[in-house]
Amino acid sequence: MAFPETRLRRLRQSEILRQMVTETRVVASDLVMPLFVYAGTNVRNPIKSMPGNYQLSVENIVTECKRLVDMGIKSVLLFGIPEHKDADGTCATHDDAIVQRAIIAIKKEIKDIFIIADICNCEYTTHGHCGTIVDGDVHNDLTLVTLSKQAVSLARVGADMVAPSDMMDGRVGHMRQELDRAGYYNMPIMSYSAKYASAFYGPFRDAAESAPQFGNRATYQMNPANGDEAMREIELDIEEGADIVMVKPALSYLDVIRRTKDTFNIPVAAYNVSGEFSMVKAAAERGWIDENRITKEILTSIKRAGADIIITYHAQDIAKFL
Ligand code: PBG
Repeated sequence: MAFPETRLRRLRQSEILRQMVTETRVVASDLVMPLFVYAGTNVRNPIKSMPGNYQLSVENIVTECKRLVDMGIKSVLLFGIPEHKDADGTCATHDDAIVQRAIIAIKKEIKDIFIIADICNCEYTTHGHCGTIVDGDVHNDLTLVTLSKQAVSLARVGADMVAPSDMMDGRVGHMRQELDRAGYYNMPIMSYSAKYASAFYGPFRDAAESAPQFGNRATYQMNPANGDEAMREIELDIEEGADIVMVKPALSYLDVIRRTKDTFNIPVAAYNVSGEFSMVKAAAERGWIDENRITKEILTSIKRAGADIIITYHAQDIAKFL
């Protein structure tokens, strides 16, 4: 039945009715807040390109986590900036490494929190690449060894989930096997399955001090032009044992999120990355946009596209408006 019998404006007549027919709602429990743990004590370095975000030493991370949990954000994703970096990221594989120390401290103080540990080498290598360099490029299979060691150590100190973000081939299967061998068969893996070589990571690399010192990440992260390839990456990660798959970044890849949701029966995460966040903050600072409305619209669009979990630096600002 068409116009005039059908009038779609009928269901837009009042706020109460609009609320009743709302299809997509973002709630605080969808959101994960990324945090940066910094070596030392009493550190609270503002990250210039990411207003409201800080590099925090362990005791300050604990305070920050309490604040987030109190506002309903109960899940955090931890990145570490160590005191010393090395050639292959071995410094992140010990139980007293920076993120491990933070997890132990947070778990001691806070019961009702879910800690996701990012697994990668780029914050821990002197050259800033995500793995071990051989002949000028990241060597896939050698890198699997350090990644899995990092994951097992993070499981041992109490991480609730591990999230490999390196884009090596076979890392989910390798990590699953090593976690199981160590007895952590219930440790979920959220894989950064379709992670693109994106300019939207710029501000993050300031925050994590992880910019590559030569070349770029194009031999391991995906070409932004490719969607079919994302489906292959995701399919392989699921076969290897991923429990949750991720698409990253989010906004320029909403089509990939939707395809993932339509193609696979598995929880989907989307990472609303640093550059996406900083663009909103910069425009809001100039008074060019309404930050709260834009943020809500962005997060709603990511969820509408098919994401079950949204990792976002907006979490702390938007929680009270959801
Ligand atoms: C580590 C990693 C990166 C991000 C998350 N994990 C950076 C990169 O690949 O260079 C980016 C997150 C963001 O931009 O918010 N490999």
